[in-house]
Amino acid sequence: MERRTFLWQAALGLGALSLGRVQAAAAWKPTRAAQARWAELLDYARWAPSPHNIQPWKLRVVSDTEAELYYDPARLLPYTDPTSAFTIIGLGIFIESLRVAAAPLGLGLDVRPAEALRLDYAATAPTWFARLRLRPGADPAPDRELLKERRTARRAYDGRPVAAAVQQEMATLATAYGHQLSLSSDPALIDFVLDLNCQTLFADLDDAGTRRELSTWIRTTDEQAAHLADGLWSRCMGFPGWLMHNFFFHSERFRAGWKRAVLGRAYRHSMRGTATVAWLQGPFATPADWLRAGALLQRLWLDLSRHGVYLHPFGSVVTNPAAHQQFLTRAGAGPAAPPLWLLMRLGYGPVPPRSFRLTVNDLLMPS
Ligand SMILES: Cc1cc2nc3c(=O)[nH]c(=O)nc-3n(C[C@H](O)[C@H](O)[C@H](O)COP(=O)(O)O)c2cc1C
Repeated sequence: MERRTFLWQAALGLGALSLGRVQAAAAWKPTRAAQARWAELLDYARWAPSPHNIQPWKLRVVSDTEAELYYDPARLLPYTDPTSAFTIIGLGIFIESLRVAAAPLGLGLDVRPAEALRLDYAATAPTWFARLRLRPGADPAPDRELLKERRTARRAYDGRPVAAAVQQEMATLATAYGHQLSLSSDPALIDFVLDLNCQTLFADLDDAGTRRELSTWIRTTDEQAAHLADGLWSRCMGFPGWLMHNFFFHSERFRAGWKRAVLGRAYRHSMRGTATVAWLQGPFATPADWLRAGALLQRLWLDLSRHGVYLHPFGSVVTNPAAHQQFLTRAGAGPAAPPLWLLMRLGYGPVPPRSFRLTVNDLLMPS
């Protein structure tokens, strides 16, 4: 096996994949049974979380055991995710979701990603990202129904810290992936994190480029959210649609300090009852690292869902260099600590609204 391919598979913990067989299979039009099998898996995996709910994935069925994963260049974040790390985390989550969906069928998933894994922001058509192959023998996986139950919870929690046994289980899972999950229920640290997230969000949105890119992903009416079936729906964000619209499209109306203060207090109040924050550190230098981080994040998220625990990522604190450093200093992480790639709050609360998703047909490419 070619060394580079082997390294990819070793990095991802994946088995071998014969390229020759894929190409031979590609010459055949997939049968109706092949389409149906992948459609079944896709119907679960389409619920995978992605930054801003961009859902960049597409699938081309090759045969009942093989498919090609593409990304849609119209669904990327070139300005706010310049390295494509967070979008590739999303693709890693999607691949992991297919794996979880395949497990009850007694099937495991082998993956061979593209060699140049950075996303091509200049592409104008769906671009090939990885070959996927189903093989007999399921990979260990949680109940696939969790894929449909999992969701981001951005509203108030009920004040209970995450149970110690769950914290321990999550930390052990992260360690198995070579990452470190730290959790804290220290009220002072929680206040610090919630305040920092709030300030960072405002600071990021003062940047015209960030506002421009994000504004294409906000959905401020129920009709728009249901019709486009993607993006950040105001109901999921816990904000009135008119306020979100004005904030993005008339940001000049929100420059006054007192308006910021009122809005900040409302945003901060929406997160009351938070009693646990957590952060992930680990290898985060290469596309293979980002894919593996995505697999871990989805595993953690599904397991938390199984325990009735909700999660709310705080992406801005990680991607904003000043906030990132402020958090590391406060958390006492030394210069030798592994990279921080996710900060989040965790907790219990009411079932959040479910964000929309593209349909299976939207995601299937012609074979
Ligand atoms: C890598 C990654 C980063 C995310 N960062 C944030 C974030 O900073 N703030 C936030 O509210 N949601 C964040 N999310 C959650 C997504 O917006 C959410 O998954 C998507 O809108 C779909 O909604 P769902 O998780 O409820 O299905 C992130 C998700 C992923 C995968």
